[in-house]
Amino acid sequence: MITESNDVKRQENHLNESNQKEELLTVENLHIKFYSEGKKKITAVNNVSFRLNRSETVALVGESGCGKSVTSFSIMGLISKHVGEVEGSIKLNRKELNGIPSKKMRDIRGRDISMIFQEPMTSLNPVHKIGDQIGEVLELHTQFSKEEIKQKTIEMLRKVGIPRADKIIREYPHQLSGGMRQRVMIAMAMACNPALLIADEPTTALDVTIQAQILDLMNSLKSNFQTTILLITHDLGVVAEIADRVMVMYYGQIVEETDVQTLFATPKHPYTVGLLNSIPNLEEDSKRLHPIEGNVPYLGEISEGCPFRFRCKDAMEKCSHENPPLISLDKQKVRCWIYGEKEVTI
Ligand SMILES: Nc1ncnc2c1ncn2[C@@H]1O[C@H](COP(=O)(O)OP(=O)(O)O)[C@@H](O)[C@H]1O
Ligand SMILES: [Mg+2]
Repeated sequence: MITESNDVKRQENHLNESNQKEELLTVENLHIKFYSEGKKKITAVNNVSFRLNRSETVALVGESGCGKSVTSFSIMGLISKHVGEVEGSIKLNRKELNGIPSKKMRDIRGRDISMIFQEPMTSLNPVHKIGDQIGEVLELHTQFSKEEIKQKTIEMLRKVGIPRADKIIREYPHQLSGGMRQRVMIAMAMACNPALLIADEPTTALDVTIQAQILDLMNSLKSNFQTTILLITHDLGVVAEIADRVMVMYYGQIVEETDVQTLFATPKHPYTVGLLNSIPNLEEDSKRLHPIEGNVPYLGEISEGCPFRFRCKDAMEKCSHENPPLISLDKQKVRCWIYGEKEVTI
């Protein structure tokens, strides 16, 4: 009997492990190009490929302008044909999303994939009550009755730690603090229990103490809902708090990808090293902060070579002519000539 139940347990553990590795989102060879003056196109995202497995939290990090938000907008199907082109494959549960009719994409948004943004006021409607805004998502994607929608809305608000949820549903966004508004956004995003939550700089606009509370909340969502989270941030402190894996982005490309421990212990790409060195360290004198010199180049400014070479202390002759491929090392993938040239596929 004991052996049998142990066997069952082992089998369950095995299943759980393979469940955790089950892929949810696969992005392959993603290119995002925007139309500029005339017929010219500028590339904002250049050949990005990655995979998110079920229940994991993956951070996409990089300085402002690296292409993090536009990557997430393309996953949400929010890049209109009038402003640019999205090429490549974006599959959720092995089903292609890129290029599907906008009506189909509207069904998926909010139900299978939802998103929270840096500034909740831009996504909450100021003239509608909190309860109605969450209710609308449920009305769109479920068959719930009016009463069920109300109960579910209150339940979601309670789950994200909002006190007096039954009163809050009758209030307007401006009556809440920034932290509470972000909780409302999270409740709205989680209302239909989406498989994928994209959080774009969810704590950037908040005070440090509120930031910590929102990160705690996101950590509890991870364990309670088993949601897969794509967390976009420029803040490596946030990454350390919540992510399992990290992808570092520079000038529209992924330049390093690894698990969070490896990233902090043995960063490989000179850009990642630079980002880590620029984290303020409480024990050090603030004068010893080491920001990366220079800026992310303007889009279209660089036609060949490695786009980081201008800011890189290790740049070699080759870096001016050839953009390095993403190669696989023992524990991480990196795009830098220092480490050789054997290209990887995801
Ligand atoms: N609609 C647009 N038209 C033209 N360029 C755009 C548009 N949206 C974003 N970009 C450009 O794409 C690049 C990446 O932007 P974004 O993804 O917002 O960066 P991040 O989120 O990493 O700060 C930026 O250079 C930005 O100016
Ligand atoms: Mg952004």
